[in-house]
Amino acid sequence: MWGGRFAEGPSAIMREINASIGFDKRLWRQDIAASKVHVAMLAAQGIVAEEDADAIEEGLDRIADEYEADGVPEDAALEDIHMHVESRLAELIGPAAGRLHTARSRNDQVATDFRLWVRDAMDGALAGISALQQALVARAEEQAGAVMPGFTHLQSAQPVTLGHHLMAYYEMLRRDASRFADARARMNQCPLGSAALAGTSFPIDRKATAAALGFDRPTANSLDAVSDRDFALDYLMAAAQCALHLSRLAEEFVLWASQPFGFIALSDSFSTGSSIMPQKRNPDAAELVRGHSGRIMGTLVALSTTMKGLPLAYSKDMQDDKEPVFEAHDLLTLSLAAMAGMVETVAFRTDRMRALAESGHATATDLADWLVRAAGVPFREAHHITGRAVRLADERGVPLWELPLDALKGVDDRITGEVFNILSPDASVDSRTSFGGTAPSEVRARIAEAKRILGART
Ligand code: ARG
Repeated sequence: MWGGRFAEGPSAIMREINASIGFDKRLWRQDIAASKVHVAMLAAQGIVAEEDADAIEEGLDRIADEYEADGVPEDAALEDIHMHVESRLAELIGPAAGRLHTARSRNDQVATDFRLWVRDAMDGALAGISALQQALVARAEEQAGAVMPGFTHLQSAQPVTLGHHLMAYYEMLRRDASRFADARARMNQCPLGSAALAGTSFPIDRKATAAALGFDRPTANSLDAVSDRDFALDYLMAAAQCALHLSRLAEEFVLWASQPFGFIALSDSFSTGSSIMPQKRNPDAAELVRGHSGRIMGTLVALSTTMKGLPLAYSKDMQDDKEPVFEAHDLLTLSLAAMAGMVETVAFRTDRMRALAESGHATATDLADWLVRAAGVPFREAHHITGRAVRLADERGVPLWELPLDALKGVDDRITGEVFNILSPDASVDSRTSFGGTAPSEVRARIAEAKRILGART
C-alpha cells in the first residue's frame, strides 16, 4: 500500500510489531460500513464515478459476506483490517478499488471505525446494566420486608431489609448507566474526512457521512479528530467504575455464601464443586467477577498511559488503543451477565439473616433514639444509657429486646414498657421511613420508581 517510496520490504520483525490484524479484525463490520458511506458520498460529490462507486459498494458487500461466513483471513504483511479489506476489494473488482481511499487516510478511517465499535460497546453496556438492574429490582421486591443485619465495619450495626440492600446496587448501576449514556452522547461526532491530519482538498460532504453513520455531526478539528481517543477512555472509565461496583456485589455474595454467614445459597448453575472436597460448593463466578474487575481497571491505566504525552496528531502508539477496550468489553459483558444470572437464581436464607439481625443488639440505636424522643434525654446521654443496657444484656446473654423491663429501669428509670414497640428488628426497620431509608414502605416506593425508569428504558 505504501511500497512506492521503498526499495526493500520490511523485516519479519518489523512486520510482526506493526501488524494489528490479529485483534483489529474485530472492526471489520465498522470498517466496511464506513467505507460504503464514504464511497457513496464520493460519488454524490462527483469525486468518484458512479460506476466505480457501485463496483466498490458491491465488492464491499461481498467481503462482508465472506467475513461473516469464514471469518477474517490474517496476513501480517497487510498490517491491519483496513488494508485487508482494501486488498481483498482490489482482488475482487480490480483497479477501481484504488479509488475508495480518495480523500481519506487510515488515520481518520481507524478513528471512525473504532468510534463506531465503542459506540456499540456503550449500547451493549447499557443493555447489560439494565438486565442486571431488572434482576436486582425483582429480587428486592420479593425481599422488601426481609430483615437482615446491616453492617458498618462489617460489624452488625442496625437492621435493614434485604430489599434495601439489593436496591443499593440498583443505585450504583444507575450511576454507571448514566456514565455510559453521557459518554455516548459526548463521543457521537464523526472523524471521517479529517484525513491524515489536516483535512482534505477534495470537496467532500462530512455532514452527509456523519449523518449516514448515525453521528450527530462531524468533528470540528481534524488534528484532534485523528488523535482523540477520549471516547475509548470514557468507555474504560465507565467500565472500570461499573466493574468496581460489580466486584462489591460479587464480594458480598462470596461472603454471604460462606458457612459463617450462611445468608445465601448460590444456584448450582452458578457454582462449582471441588475435585477433592465433595461437600464444597464454590462461588467461582462471583470470585471471577471480583477478579475481572481488577483487569478491567488495568485496561484504563494501560490506555491512559499509552495516550499520555502523545504529541499531535496520530502516532502509531495509538494502535494499542484497541486491545484494552476489547478486553474490558469482553470481561464487562460477561461479568454483567454472570452477576445477573447469580442474582436471578440465588436462594436467600432469610431465616438466618433474621436470626443474626436479632442478635448483636442491632437495635441499640433505636433505644437511644427512643430515649431522646420519648423521654427528652440529650442524644449523648441516651447513647451512654444504651451502652449500659447493652452491657447488661451481654452479661445476661440475651438480646437487648429480651431484657425485662425492671432490668431496663435499673439502668435508667425513664425507660418504660413502650420501648418494646421499637426494640425488635421489625419495629426498627419499620420506623426508618425517612426518604431513602430502610423501612419496607420506603423500599417499595423506591422499587416502584425503579420499575418505572427501567420500563421506560426498554
Ligand atoms: N492500524 C492502525 C491503527 O490501528 C491504523 C492507522 C494507521 N495509520 C498510519 N498512519 N500508519 O492505529
